Amino acid sequence: MKTIFSGIQPSGVITLGNYIGAMRQFIELQHEYNCYFCIVDQHAITVPQDRLELRKNIRSLAALYLAVGIDPNKATLFIQSEVPAHAQAGWMLQCIAYIGELERMTQFKDKSAGKEAVSAGLLTYPPLMAADILLYKTDIVPVGEDQKQHIELTRDLAERFNKRYGEIFTLPEPRIPKVGARIMSLADPTKKMSKSDPNKKAFITLLDDAKTIEKKIKSAVTDSDGVIKYDKENKPGITNLLNIYSILANKSIEQLEQEYAGKGYGEFKADLAQVIIDTLTPIQEKYYHLMESDLLDQVLDEGAEKANQVANKMLKKMENAMGLGRKRK
Ligand code: AQP
Repeated sequence: MKTIFSGIQPSGVITLGNYIGAMRQFIELQHEYNCYFCIVDQHAITVPQDRLELRKNIRSLAALYLAVGIDPNKATLFIQSEVPAHAQAGWMLQCIAYIGELERMTQFKDKSAGKEAVSAGLLTYPPLMAADILLYKTDIVPVGEDQKQHIELTRDLAERFNKRYGEIFTLPEPRIPKVGARIMSLADPTKKMSKSDPNKKAFITLLDDAKTIEKKIKSAVTDSDGVIKYDKENKPGITNLLNIYSILANKSIEQLEQEYAGKGYGEFKADLAQVIIDTLTPIQEKYYHLMESDLLDQVLDEGAEKANQVANKMLKKMENAMGLGRKRK
């Protein structure tokens, strides 16, 4: 059975972008692959986090993984910081990564742009992500488009390590959905939707209530020509809304364009808000139930135990290959 690894940062409540670009794929994949799904809290601290908020977001993300349909009997769900091998392997991979290649990462450029102080962790985050993936001999990494460059770097680091120290790593492939790989901000449809966007109107979280969803969709930036038509170049706002609608309602873009021919943005937006509410209501019901139950801790404890076993084996191989510590039988 091939192995899948993917992580989500608890840097806020996850958005429709995270759900459509990454999480939705996980649900189908867990039936066919050996899956590891990780709450990558160490990645989240590459930018400042409030400690209480972070703790809340970690737990909330764990409950959301289960609420959307991850089955803990099929997939291993765990928290990155509860498996120390990630940070240890991340350090080793930092030592074979070059500053130049890390500085070329688009996400680093975007997140550091205009900031006076940027943490070293923001620069060295991709080798930690490489460690996350390589520790589990991952074959496939299901991600949104924004993470493609980091998977390419993971492959480069794995190849470099294999050449220098011996063939121990599997080279992973990204798996990017054909549609919905890049859901855009509702406030600026030329920018990716992000859970840490300071403008709360820019994204819909999986926990937004019906009123908030209606308001956010109503205020979503569109254009003034009043035609509901897919046109990425000239109508990025409507195109983004059409994408979200098409994926969640399981209707083609052409079908939607026909359905809304001659109709106004108001009606289109009201219907889209309803589609989002209908998608999120059952997830939210399960979520609130899970947050009250003991199941969450049980799943995370079992997940950490399994992940530690698997990751420690690969960590030992890495240490042996690099000559760290003492030789053991
Ligand atoms: N807008 C998006 N459209 C499609 N997929 C997306 N992903 C993120 N944004 C979109 C995918 O979600 C997964 C988890 O992402 P992450 O939390 O690890 O980090 P990120 O990519 O940096 O996501 P955010 O929401 O933008 O987080 P912040 O604001 O903290 O930086 C990944 O598979 C990602 O591709």
